[in-house]
Amino acid sequence: MKAKKIIAGVAFLGALALTATGCAGGGGSAAGGNGGGDGVITVGFAQTGSESGWRSANTESMKEAFSEANGFNLVFNAADNKPEAQIAAVRSFINQGVDAIVLAPIVTDGWDDVLQEAKDANIPVILEDRTVSASKDLYASWIGLDFKKEGETAGKWVADNFGSTPTNLVVLEGTTGSSAATDRASGFDSAIAGTDIKVLDSQTGNFTRADGKTVMEGFLQKYGSQINVLFAHNDDMGLGALEAIKAAGLKPGTDIKIVTIDAVKDGMTALANGEFNYIVECNPLLGEKTAEVVKKVVAGESVDKQYIVEDQAFDQEQAKKVLDSRPY
Ligand code: AHR
Repeated sequence: MKAKKIIAGVAFLGALALTATGCAGGGGSAAGGNGGGDGVITVGFAQTGSESGWRSANTESMKEAFSEANGFNLVFNAADNKPEAQIAAVRSFINQGVDAIVLAPIVTDGWDDVLQEAKDANIPVILEDRTVSASKDLYASWIGLDFKKEGETAGKWVADNFGSTPTNLVVLEGTTGSSAATDRASGFDSAIAGTDIKVLDSQTGNFTRADGKTVMEGFLQKYGSQINVLFAHNDDMGLGALEAIKAAGLKPGTDIKIVTIDAVKDGMTALANGEFNYIVECNPLLGEKTAEVVKKVVAGESVDKQYIVEDQAFDQEQAKKVLDSRPY
């Protein structure tokens, strides 16, 4: 941890050097990082919360990568999906004088002020998982997934399988205002545009199993057996909906086809069992790459502005084949 932040003049020279070499910088520099001189990098990680199986796998991957054995002192905060609490956590990391901040932003907007504060304190910010709408100058790098492509892949499967006959679809959206929900919705909508698929309803289930179940119960009460397909922005909401569908006396995967995103163990099990129909993967194992980028940024080395981790997609037969070898 930094005993004292470096003086503004040195920070300014550091910033100039980063610009001159075309290096992506978010306020960090070799001089600014690892100020404790003990070789240990103190990282504040602002996680969204613990809303899903994906999130648990992501937290585990991050804790493993940012271990003491790997040269880190991790200060972990999970904000229970409350944006104000997450902003407060980042502000507290700044006050503690950590060497770097890793942020998995709950929502896209509202980050400008606190990211500017981090930059002013010469603490680099690295985004993990989701993105923000704030200026790219305010963070060093983003390690994440192509959420729009995930939505497109899901939508293309629905369009290919049901697009040429009148089909009624409902959507369980992720956290409102998150890049994961916004981009998946836009990718999905563009893929089903111009087909015979009608979106009957679309509501948030906050990426949780409990809310997925509650919202699906409402859809079933309102539309009953008119619903042909459910698109859930993550496995957990799909799994909650699956319970609601069964309770309504319908057969998930048959009476109502279910398409989700994530490919965590429980989702893949439902797919292999025929209760889900298609899953687009969202890889949560971002820890190793993020730790590598943090080390480089703190050392003042050049990093890319973004690293996108590739996703796969699975139908029922493919799920049966890979289920046992899935790492999460
Ligand atoms: O941002 C990634 C999304 O957040 C995952 O799809 C979801 O399960 C999680 O909570």
